[in-house]
Amino acid sequence: MILGLILCCCMSAVLAGTVEGTTPVPEICRVDVVLSCSYEGEGGLPRAFGGSQHPATLVLRGLSVTNDGTLGDVTNYEIPQKDHSSSAPIIFEASAQLVSIPYADALLHVDCSGEEVSCELSPYSFQQEGNGLCSTSWFLAAIRLSSGISIALLLRGPSCTSQKDEHDVRLHPKLKIPMSKEGTLLTTVEFQSSSNNTSLRTRLGSSITLDCRFALAPSFLLSSLEWRRQHRGSGRSLFQYHVGNEDTTVQPKFHVDVEQLLGNGDASLTLQEATVDDEGMYICLVSTAQHQIQHNIQLLVAEPPRVRMFPTEVSFERDETITLTCNIAGYYPLDISVSWTQKSPEDEVEISLSNTRFSSHRQSRDGTYSIASYLSISSATVQAPATYTCHVSHVALEAPISISTHLKAPEHTESEGLVGGAIATAIFITVLFIVLRRKRAAEPKPEQLLTASE
Ligand SMILES: *[C@@H]1O[C@H](CO)[C@@H](O)[C@H](O)[C@H]1NC(C)=O
Ligand SMILES: *[C@@H]1O[C@H](CO)[C@@H](O)[C@H](O)[C@H]1NC(C)=O
Repeated sequence: MILGLILCCCMSAVLAGTVEGTTPVPEICRVDVVLSCSYEGEGGLPRAFGGSQHPATLVLRGLSVTNDGTLGDVTNYEIPQKDHSSSAPIIFEASAQLVSIPYADALLHVDCSGEEVSCELSPYSFQQEGNGLCSTSWFLAAIRLSSGISIALLLRGPSCTSQKDEHDVRLHPKLKIPMSKEGTLLTTVEFQSSSNNTSLRTRLGSSITLDCRFALAPSFLLSSLEWRRQHRGSGRSLFQYHVGNEDTTVQPKFHVDVEQLLGNGDASLTLQEATVDDEGMYICLVSTAQHQIQHNIQLLVAEPPRVRMFPTEVSFERDETITLTCNIAGYYPLDISVSWTQKSPEDEVEISLSNTRFSSHRQSRDGTYSIASYLSISSATVQAPATYTCHVSHVALEAPISISTHLKAPEHTESEGLVGGAIATAIFITVLFIVLRRKRAAEPKPEQLLTASE
């Protein structure tokens, strides 16, 4: 969570006089970004596993951001009055003079954009002094935004040795390292690495780039880059490059542009023709002689299903049961949701149906799945006309796919049958009547016979 953003000074405010009146040039401003973090205690274990956790505040001093006009007049972030309670956050002040911090704009606007931020600070390494009290400190700040941006900052903490001789050096009550007058830990960012998206999805057969970049303070040099993949408990090295050794070790289908790597710190890995076997956690490991920062990037394959329904139009010829088949093929991963609805012209809404059946899943050679769903409709129970729809939802689909079959009204509906029956009966009676009359006319009349016999 961002506690506050504080504008330090707009650099172009100095230039403003010359820019005024011309087309608006986005200003570059210096702001302080303040993040609410947690400090994961020594041992690096999560709290659930016995590691200690303490509230912390990370003040990123003087980040360069573009002022799109929405930045108001704000002042420096002021360190709050010293709070002596044991639950007071540990305040890390980080200066980004040597290494610029990426995604400063995203960090600044994270409150407005409704993104979630997580920030974890942890000790990276300590150099223990003889007395065990003072340790030169390196800290790692891991910042993650819900959009997938991941930023890792290696912070050089206060150095003990330089203040060895000062007797009044005050140590932080928790971390036992020298702190500033305000009680904060002054640090500098000396190594940063980032990825613009740590949660990627790709279609089968496409190529995708896993973003990983870094920047180092001038006193540091890159020593190696490695990309690894971790999946279902097994790990594998995909790419290795050691500075000074021209040979790179690279698995087929993968590529890192070494020129870009050395030129501008772009360590991104490109993967060609993704298959389901390429899923996993990709780890970008950037190392200097002393330090290493890693980013974990999750790659998932998501292939949407193709959906077909047959027959596409049906009608009942006689008393029978017809099975509609909804064929769903070529999707990945396995999870899929299929439902059926029915709608006749009188229905206002679609009525969902539950009497459906499924085939078992089949997996094809490319790893994708297929399934069929069946709906049986019987002339005895359904009303025609009606529309039957198969709805398919899958993670690779932005919206569900719906495919329908139309059940036509039969040639002779029940009411037509009644009318037909009535007409047939009427004809039959008429014919019978005529026949009887003719028969009677031919015969002697019974009265006459009677009369004659009298
Ligand atoms: C990250 O990648 C996913 C899937 O590949 C995509 O949906 C998402 O929009 C990307 N995020 C950003 C911030 O580009
Ligand atoms: C993320 O980085 C990759 C590779 O460097 C790039 O191709 C892509 O355009 C970037 N995406 C965004 C949203 O910046």
